[in-house]
Amino acid sequence: MPVDRLFADPELAALYDAMCRGRPDFAFYLPLVASADAVLDVGCGTGELLRLARAAGHSGRLCGLDPAPAMLDHARACTDVDWVVGDLRSADWDHDFSLVVMTGHAFQVLVTDDDVRVALAAIGHALADDGRFVFETRNPRAREWESWTAHPSSAFVAGDGTVVHRRVAVDAVRGDLVRFTQTYTSPRWAAPRASTSTLRFLDAASLRERLASAGLVVHAQFGDWDRTPLHDSSPEIITIAGRG
Ligand SMILES: C[S@@+](CC[C@H](N)C(=O)[O-])C[C@H]1O[C@@H](n2cnc3c(N)ncnc32)[C@H](O)[C@@H]1O
Repeated sequence: MPVDRLFADPELAALYDAMCRGRPDFAFYLPLVASADAVLDVGCGTGELLRLARAAGHSGRLCGLDPAPAMLDHARACTDVDWVVGDLRSADWDHDFSLVVMTGHAFQVLVTDDDVRVALAAIGHALADDGRFVFETRNPRAREWESWTAHPSSAFVAGDGTVVHRRVAVDAVRGDLVRFTQTYTSPRWAAPRASTSTLRFLDAASLRERLASAGLVVHAQFGDWDRTPLHDSSPEIITIAGRG
């Protein structure tokens, strides 16, 4: 499956951790990772979650899966995690993991019904009997893409100290699919670099249905990283599911 330029282009992949600095979700995910003996991070990107867990003393099995070699090049700074290039279509884990996570809204890259079905089946197969699958997806009811249009420009400091400017344009909203283009400008580049992505915004009922079809039961759903209950206009749908 081809990945967006944002993840495939080494110059853009190198910006990813700086772009995500101060993210609120790791305070939610890190304790879950710390208390699980074997963890699979699907769409791990630069692997920051597992790198932090290992640095904090996690001594069990940590495995990161991502189809973008340019992102995994950064993950590989940590040598005692298994970094695997690929996606769930090629996965053949056999109930190896007590925790599977998909963070950074990676679940939303699964844009077709078949992508979602295949991914959830593979996750069910990777999970131990009492294992948990924890992931989040932006709540479509909060219509976050409208705030991207209202506030299209931002800037952040890259790892080398240069200031990178980012501009977002929403190209199309069709049903639950949002296509948008991000354009990055750095003083180190002769020309801006642009990446077009499509994300799927599944609602909570639809997620529950798809999880159930894959034999996965929802244990809890939250609407934000402080574990507030999910309601109609929550920004996130954060789901903890298991095989039983
Ligand atoms: C927004 S990043 C999230 C990275 C990381 N999980 C985080 O929290 O920062 C989305 C990641 O999903 C990966 N990805 C794209 N298509 C994928 C697929 N079919 N299966 C798994 N991961 C995929 C991309 O390469 C990218 O690294």
